[in-house]
This record gives sequence, C-alpha cells and structure tokens, in this order.
Amino acid sequence: MTREEFQNEYGIIGKSVEMQEITDVVQQVAPTDITVLITGESGVGKEVVARALHTASNRAKKPLVTVNCGAIPEGLIESELFGHERGSFTSAVDTRKGYFEIADGGTIFLDEIGEMPAATQVKLLRVLENGEYMRIGSSAPRTSDARVIAATNKNLEQEVQQKRFRPDLYFRLRSVNILIPPLRNRREDIPVLIEHFIKEFSQKNNLAFRGFTDDATHTFMNYYWPGNVRELRNVIESILVLEKGKRVTEEDVQKYLQRAPVYGGERNLPVALNKSVEQAERELIYRALVDLKSDILELKQLLAHSGVTMVEEVGTVHREGNGALSIDDMERRLIARALERHRGNRRLAAQDLNISERTLYRKIKEFGLDVK
Ligand SMILES: Nc1ncnc2c1ncn2[C@@H]1O[C@H](COP(=O)(O)OP(=O)(O)OP(=O)(O)O)[C@@H](O)[C@H]1O
Ligand SMILES: [Mg+2]
Repeated sequence: MTREEFQNEYGIIGKSVEMQEITDVVQQVAPTDITVLITGESGVGKEVVARALHTASNRAKKPLVTVNCGAIPEGLIESELFGHERGSFTSAVDTRKGYFEIADGGTIFLDEIGEMPAATQVKLLRVLENGEYMRIGSSAPRTSDARVIAATNKNLEQEVQQKRFRPDLYFRLRSVNILIPPLRNRREDIPVLIEHFIKEFSQKNNLAFRGFTDDATHTFMNYYWPGNVRELRNVIESILVLEKGKRVTEEDVQKYLQRAPVYGGERNLPVALNKSVEQAERELIYRALVDLKSDILELKQLLAHSGVTMVEEVGTVHREGNGALSIDDMERRLIARALERHRGNRRLAAQDLNISERTLYRKIKEFGLDVK
C-alpha cells in the first residue's frame, strides 16, 4: 500500500513532512506487537493514530479497548484494568472482567497514561513484560495477549524526573514513540484538513458550501490553533452550519476563533494554554528573538540597497558591564539550555522552544552545538 493509500484507508490526513513520517511509522509498526507511546498536545490526533495502529494490524477483528486513565477514580482503576473476583471489596458484588481480559487478542489503548497512579504503574509494567496480571481478590495469575498503545499530552520525561512516573515503565512504553507536533508547527496540513472536514460535514448534513475568501484562508493559516486539529474541525463544522450557502470571509472566520492575537505569519504569540507559565515565557522570548533577528536582516538588506553602510552594533544587544551579547549568542544559549534541560533529547527541546525539529537540527549545525 502506498503512503497515500494508507492515509486514506486509515483516516490520517496530512501533507506535512511530519505527518508523512508519522504515517510511515504507523504503517511499519502496526502489524507488530511493539508497545507504542503517542505524545502530543490535546487535539493533535493521538487517538486517530492509535485507532490506525489497531485497524491496520492483524488484531483488527478483535476489540480495541480505550481506557481513559485520567477519568477513572484512583481506587477503581486496577479493578477496571485487571478485573475483580466477587466480594474482593465492598462494591464488588459480581466477578468482573478487566479491560486486559476484554482486549485479549486485540489492542488496549491507555489514554492519558501520565495520570496512572504509582501502584498501578507497577502492575502495568508486569503485564507489559510477560503478559501476566491478577484479578483483584485473586492470586491466580492470568495472561493477556493485548497489544498496548499509550498516549499522553504530558511530558513523561519530566514526570519521571519529578518522580511521578516510573522510569522503567517509561522506557518500556516508549519502545516506539510517536510524537505528533502541534498543528501550528505543521501548517501545510491546514488546507488538506479543511478540505477533508468540509467534505465530511457537507456530505453528512447535505450542506452547500461556497468557499472561503483568500483573507479567510490566510486567517486559518496564521491562527495559533491552541486546540489543534480538534479545534479546526469544530470551527469548520460551525462555519458550515451557521454560514451556510455564503462565501465565507475573514470577519466570519474570526467569530469562531479564540481571541488570541493573530498577527500573521510566525509572529503569532503563543497562548498560554495547557502550558506552564515558564514554558510560555520561554516561547515568547524565543519568538521575540527570532522576530528581532529577521527585522534586523530585513533592515540590513534595505540599507544595503540604499547604499547606506550599517554599523556592526546593530544586531547586538548590550548587557551592562559584561560587554555585548549578540542575538546569535542569545539564540545559541537558549537552544543549548533547552537541550541541556531535556538531556539532549532534540524532540523535546524543539517542543519546548516551539520550533520544528528540523529547524532545531539546522540551528544545532549552524551553532556547532553537535560537536562536544
Ligand atoms: N491527522 C488527522 N486526520 C484527520 N482527522 C484528524 C487528524 N488529527 C486529528 N483529527 C481529528 O481531530 C479530532 C481530535 O483528534 P484526537 O481525538 O485524535 O486528538 P487527541 O490527540 O487524542 O486529543 P486529546 O489529547 O484531547 O485526547 C478528532 O475529531 C480527529 O478525528
Ligand atoms: Mg485523545
């Protein structure tokens, strides 16, 4: 099956290099029993990928059991996962099968794995290692042949550092780690997703759609999309229903977007949604730096064309006493620090800086940060 065929068959829409790479990984690992960890912000398509991994596997005819670890009360999660014997605790009036038993031969999708309580993490590790588990109230080991897929929008590495997540479980889960970047970092996907959702909703509801003006399209391309693909899908659905039969303008579109600043291009300021203040701040500083740098480049070019020579000091930020620290220097330090923070993990560092991994690789080369 070609990549396009696979994408159509399993509903993974996306033209960006990132989504193409993800599709290839999904296609490769789906037929295996390897545990897959899917990470990314809310609404990026983690469940879409999990579903594709199941339906493109030989387990497709057996159940895909989705467990939202964050939604089950701590005291109940083990009995939900592993089942219980009658009378094992007060409310256990009947024997109950656990999700691992139900998913036998199929797939169990552990969503929001970062919310799993420490005691349950140990038991999960055991199932992952040898398929063994016990029902609550029973000491007879059972085995489950369920393929495990886990997802989280938390930074699990950070959870491990802060001792909230077991490192052995983390390493076991991330045999294959699929990181889905936020929509704002793969904007090439926006038009194809829009097209896909328009088709979906106009067919389903028999709605006529007369298209977007160029300005409206521009707004879609530049918006920050804090809610990622889910938000885009909701916005398209609302517009199709509420603006039906008309050509949709920029003003129309604005009504459906969150009141985040839309400045155009990469100058969008990050919105502190689902993010620590610290991370949002770092992003802001980084963005400001990148903008400043491109302004200076533009200025230099302008001046070069007008025949005026430029003093070297422009492009340099002064620090009191310590001499000058160039913008390149500052950028280099920010990147070096992000890499340090994530112990050289480029994926996480890029995420932290809110730049694409590719940009980070380029910068690492540019600044010679890879030769240590
Ligand atoms: N690549 C994609 N192609 C088609 N639809 C997508 C894609 N990515 C996301 N979607 C759609 O966007 C919505 C959100 O996706 P999904 O539920 O998979 O996100 P999620 O990462 O699991 O979010 P959360 O962390 O909030 O659970 C769904 O309606 C899904 O169908
Ligand atoms: Mg989800």
